[in-house]
Amino acid sequence: MEKTLVILKPCTIQRGLIGEIISRFERKGLCLAGMKMTWLTDEILSEHYAHLKEKPFFQRIKDAMSVCPVIVCCWEGVDAIHVVRQLAGATNGRNAQPGTIRGDYSMSVQENIVHASDSPETAAIELKRFFNDDEIFNYKMNNLLALYANDEF
Ligand code: TYD
Repeated sequence: MEKTLVILKPCTIQRGLIGEIISRFERKGLCLAGMKMTWLTDEILSEHYAHLKEKPFFQRIKDAMSVCPVIVCCWEGVDAIHVVRQLAGATNGRNAQPGTIRGDYSMSVQENIVHASDSPETAAIELKRFFNDDEIFNYKMNNLLALYANDEF
């Protein structure tokens, strides 16, 4: 099983979509391994978005990510990193396919509802960035045989 990081962005909190977005991941069959509300600092956002530091929108996205607290989640499942990226959809909400989270809830490239880790390496780094070890819980859902074939997990 893989674990991946999802951040419910300030736009999601401001628009009252927390429950709806969390339901998407639950309905898919992912297991919630960690969740907390936190107010992101410029320092942690500079680290998180370091790959974009040369972009003209670098400060703009950091500002948008700190207008209010966010909710950081750790979701677990087989191929969870890929599955969650697929559920999130394309970065720009206007291009994201209907049926994806961004496709259904976002009209913007910046206000695009969720952040989701994009690779196993990134997921490991990002989970460490936003969670302490004792904030991630290792437990098994009791519905695994209804979610997967017995050789899938
Ligand atoms: P990126 O890591 O490229 O996309 P994703 O979130 O799909 O992994 O970009 C990080 C965030 O930066 C993105 O969610 C929204 C913001 N962003 C912009 O505001 N404008 C842009 O042109 C891009 C590419 C990203």
